[in-house]
Amino acid sequence: MSQTADFIRGLPKAELHLHIEGSLEPEQMFEFARRNRIALPFASVEEVRAAYAFSNLQDFLDIYYQGAGVLQTETDFRDLALAYFARVAADGCRHVELFFDPQTHTDRGIPFAVVADGLLAGMAEAQRRYEISSKLILCFLRHLDEEAAFATLRAAEPYLDRIVGVGLDSSEVGHPPAKFERVFRAARERGLKLVAHAGEEGPSAYVWEALDRLHVDRLDHGNRSLEDEALVGRLVAEGMTLTVCPLSNLKLCVVKDLEAHPLKRMLQLGLRATVNSDDPAYFGGYLADNWIAVTKALGLARAELATLAKNSFSGSFLEPAEAAEHLASIDAYAQAA
Ligand code: ADE
Ligand code: ZN
Repeated sequence: MSQTADFIRGLPKAELHLHIEGSLEPEQMFEFARRNRIALPFASVEEVRAAYAFSNLQDFLDIYYQGAGVLQTETDFRDLALAYFARVAADGCRHVELFFDPQTHTDRGIPFAVVADGLLAGMAEAQRRYEISSKLILCFLRHLDEEAAFATLRAAEPYLDRIVGVGLDSSEVGHPPAKFERVFRAARERGLKLVAHAGEEGPSAYVWEALDRLHVDRLDHGNRSLEDEALVGRLVAEGMTLTVCPLSNLKLCVVKDLEAHPLKRMLQLGLRATVNSDDPAYFGGYLADNWIAVTKALGLARAELATLAKNSFSGSFLEPAEAAEHLASIDAYAQAA
């Protein structure tokens, strides 16, 4: 396995599904709480980690939103992003399209600019230090209403030249994509790319809605699409990229074990799947950990790993010429290995 692990770590890859707030490690939570004089309901790092036993998405979201409360200053957001990039620099990661949840912060009185300026500063520093490029995706919280999403898009207006797209996350069941049809249309009119979480816990009907009502450019998770043959046919025909998150699926009980994970089946069906970490500090692994765990569980071959790596760049929002350079680097790597 270690040869495979080495091969995976060296393989050039992109991460397309990463919530930056989900990279907040417990140690960092205590550090930010200390410097911002915020009381935490946990006595130790061990106690925090022990609380990370989830039986569904909502269990996780409750603790994730609570954890984000320690993020107060531009420096906090910059440090959070940089700590994430330092970790994935060792994973062969060359490009990241990271989600952030502005409403989690603006609803606590943190200005949009504090969040965005901090994250953008961390991203610029990561390019200098680690040569990792990155793009920012603003996610609307789907448990909140349409007007709150529109207010967030208005708050983002001065930053839209530095935000590549919008996404949709948080509690899926009961909050179908159609609820955000108009705000997604407004985002599209501003030239933004569109992505949405769909088919993680929610039914395949939500995936159809993400395609037909939101007109997404990429689909986050999408696991439950496999329950609908016609939908799979549509996703294959459109060459839709799916940002799949194996350790997240395991921790949130979307799959019973990694051996039952649908990633290999997705590839066999011709779906453009990618491997991602989602919320690495909460789900027990960063980018390469996800790749290694799912490769071990499903017995993925090197050709499948190269396909996954290529999918991560061809499904990214990089310019075609930039993506092509990464694709060539994967071929060169695979041939030399
Ligand atoms: N926010 C952070 N991680 C998420 C996930 N896996 N699903 C929905 N919302 C999220
Ligand atoms: Zn996610």
